[in-house]
Amino acid sequence: MTGPAPTAVVDARGRIKRKLRVSLTDRCNLRCHYCMPEHPRWLPRAELMSNAELLRLVGLFVRTLGITELRLTGGEPLLRADVPALVSELGALRSEGLQRIALTSNGVRLAPVAQALLDAGLDDLNVSLDSITPAVFTALTRGQIEPVLQGIEAAMAAGLPLKLNSVVIKGANEGEVLPLMQWAKARGLPLRFIEFMPLDGRQGWANDKVVTEDEIIAHLAPHHRLEKLPRSSDPATYYRVDGDYRIGVISTISKPFCASCDRLRLDARGRLYTCLFSAVETDLLTPLRAGASDAELLALIRTAVWNKPAGYAEQPGYVERPITMHHLGG
Ligand code: GTP
Ligand code: 5AD
Ligand code: SF4
Repeated sequence: MTGPAPTAVVDARGRIKRKLRVSLTDRCNLRCHYCMPEHPRWLPRAELMSNAELLRLVGLFVRTLGITELRLTGGEPLLRADVPALVSELGALRSEGLQRIALTSNGVRLAPVAQALLDAGLDDLNVSLDSITPAVFTALTRGQIEPVLQGIEAAMAAGLPLKLNSVVIKGANEGEVLPLMQWAKARGLPLRFIEFMPLDGRQGWANDKVVTEDEIIAHLAPHHRLEKLPRSSDPATYYRVDGDYRIGVISTISKPFCASCDRLRLDARGRLYTCLFSAVETDLLTPLRAGASDAELLALIRTAVWNKPAGYAEQPGYVERPITMHHLGG
């Protein structure tokens, strides 16, 4: 590592930040109703960070603030054609403390770039797959399942480590829990179910649409031997299945894990969100473009992180704010 050792960035509740999620675009080629408003208004391109601006900000987080894990998100990050090149450029930060570069994608455009992402140094990939039944997939996402399955196959063939994410919504895809798990298990693909969070753009969320961790497990328990594993700082609780496979459940609603939150988020406009549910943003790009020094940017970041709210656990339900999930990428 070159230069002085980073000083961990910490909030007033003592939660040290290790992970930064960076949205590359708010645009998406699917329309998952749990994520998008009916008629999304995309951010103007001129407002988005260029790769050089993104590299400067991420460099500060890694070099000076002790961030060790980076996750590129969207919208759909692979709508940007230059993602392999960006991953490769971010790789330069490994000598400054960066340990992992990951990506979360809907998989639609994955097949043609899976090998290039691996070659560029991507460590691993999360792909959203909420259903294994084509008609259910289309009802949820307004897209086709085939390219996603091809993307998953291509990533597996390339040897790119891959996990599946599946949001479960009452009345929409509860019936997919068992078939999805069996499909993923047969392929040895790690799978995490996710409780529906109030971050959709249509105010369609309600407590009774959430399929809780316990309910997800109840779908599987009659058919498989399940054993709950001890929790770590990972957002998922894991269960051993039949002794030879593992699934996770990300249970933000029924069992919030905010007390151990080690994440920060940067949207595609270079605005820092210290919590997925926060209504407060800290604009880093405007000062950067106005010529702010590293020290000035770092002061803004440290203050924002210090004031990070407690999280969903203390303020459940919808938060009034102009952005929805597709803007922050989860
Ligand atoms: P890993 O590093 O592989 O564990 O990634 P991840 O689970 O953080 O990332 P991914 O993009 O796959 O997100 C999966 C789900 O977890 C999404 O629904 C995210 O919104 C949710 N999630 C990720 N981080 C947080 C968090 O800090 N708080 C909450 N409540 N949910 C989160
Ligand atoms: N609740 C829970 N998870 C969501 N995601 C998108 N919107 C929501 C929501 N309202 C998930 C996607 C993707 C991840 C980044 O976030 O399915 O896997
Ligand atoms: Fe696009 Fe992902 Fe949102 Fe679906 S969840 S609309 S794939 S950003």
